[in-house]
Amino acid sequence: MTEIALQATDLKVIRGNKTVLSGMSFQVMQGEVFALLGGNGAGKSTTLLAFMGLLDVVDGRAEVLGQSAAEDAVAVRSKIAYLPESAALYEHLNAIENLTYFLSLSQARPDAKALHSALESVNLPKDSWTQPLKSYSKGMRQKTAIALALLRETPVLLLDEPTSGLDPAAVEDFHKIVEKLASIGVTVLMVTHDLYGACQVAHRVGLLRAGQLVDVFEADEDGAIDIAAIRDLFLQQQAA
Ligand SMILES: Nc1ncnc2c1ncn2[C@@H]1O[C@H](COP(=O)(O)OP(=O)(O)OP(=O)(O)O)[C@@H](O)[C@H]1O
Ligand SMILES: [Mg+2]
Repeated sequence: MTEIALQATDLKVIRGNKTVLSGMSFQVMQGEVFALLGGNGAGKSTTLLAFMGLLDVVDGRAEVLGQSAAEDAVAVRSKIAYLPESAALYEHLNAIENLTYFLSLSQARPDAKALHSALESVNLPKDSWTQPLKSYSKGMRQKTAIALALLRETPVLLLDEPTSGLDPAAVEDFHKIVEKLASIGVTVLMVTHDLYGACQVAHRVGLLRAGQLVDVFEADEDGAIDIAAIRDLFLQQQAA
């Protein structure tokens, strides 16, 4: 039986003096790819932060593999690789040095082969691996950040706009990686503004508006999600 990997139950989060998530409930099953779509400020990044146990949850629960993100934050974070909206990597260090340093913070010491294979999987050009990040393009930085998340080898990935800045070929590469990880049981919750990409890679797409999940779209028996239906609902809501 497939297990629930991520569960939000009546989640309520206040940031500043604003209620940014209210009564949010959804589940992501183990090995599932769930994409969260929604307008700017809808609460997508906040949802990921709640699963990381990084925010005060006023009401309800965010659970990761059966543990409460708020109460067992350290244990929960060891099971998650989180790719933030703007990954803060060191500009004066090269890709290999960044990966080695950030992985050491989570007590991981991958060998050179593992580092190389991660950078190859995201197609970061080999001649840049030993160049400082300040000489990188936006997409090259994003590839490095994705490689870092992959190297953690955690059962859960929380990805905030992972394809932002990636060219179409890199987006395809990334989707293949995500599909492969899901096929071996890794659970992926990703935030994106790429409606087409979300429908391609996700098993389900959730549409968020003003801190509430207003609809969830599932793939049909051919594995396709109705892009036009999501776009129409999204535009309708933005206009409302
Ligand atoms: N640090 C903060 N302090 C106070 N309010 C915040 C903070 N961060 C975000 N918010 C508010 O929370 C709401 C949700 O923000 P969030 O970052 O989750 O949106 P989002 O859906 O990820 O948007 P985007 O598509 O622009 O990334 C917004 O109204 C925002 O103003
Ligand atoms: Mg965001």
